Amino acid sequence: MAAPASPARLVVLVSGSGTNLQALLDAVAEHGPAGFGAEVVAVGADRTGITGLERAERAGLPTFVCRVGDHATREEWDRALTEATAAHRPDLVVSAGFMKIVGKHFLARFGGRLVNTHPALLPSFPGAHGVRDALHYGVKLTGCTVHFVDDGVDTGPIIAQEAVEVRAEDDESALHERIKDVERRLLVDVVGRLAREGYSIEGRKVRVPA
Ligand code: GAR
Repeated sequence: MAAPASPARLVVLVSGSGTNLQALLDAVAEHGPAGFGAEVVAVGADRTGITGLERAERAGLPTFVCRVGDHATREEWDRALTEATAAHRPDLVVSAGFMKIVGKHFLARFGGRLVNTHPALLPSFPGAHGVRDALHYGVKLTGCTVHFVDDGVDTGPIIAQEAVEVRAEDDESALHERIKDVERRLLVDVVGRLAREGYSIEGRKVRVPA
């Protein structure tokens, strides 16, 4: 059972509004790093000009940006992202609305410690448009999944899931907002438990003590 150092050091990766990041920051502020079991030590992004980075700056946190376009190859970008993240010595890395697939270098360094949150009930509707795809399919229940990242697209071992009902009047944005209400709570709960209790991953099974 891997039990991260307490409080665990979190690096959070974002690409957009960063409300999941904010939920983690709020939980640390509410309970204190020792009470929550973790603290955010840096925030990384794949683009500039996003609210997620502004939230980090408001919280006085170091930030870094690794843009794919600034690197000759995707592999060089992956190496740069790995080094920029590693510089903050994270125990856990949280991909919270980070809209890039990390590569083999990142996984070699952070595999088994990289947590992603996805706005659908995996293995249904992986990828960048989980909410839209679920809505178009016509499912009546969707939700969110917090999982460890492996080398597939949203295929890694599942840590926790929660369902959200689809309403007849939903459009993508309304449904996504209701999913995010649930997702923020689930992500905070999962990250706190992983940090405080430790965990094991055996094949596809993730075990976190109660
Ligand atoms: C979240 O719903 C997250 O699951 C999703 O982006 C949103 C980010 O919201 N991620 C993906 O779709 C990844 N495939 P936030 O920036 O407000 O935290």
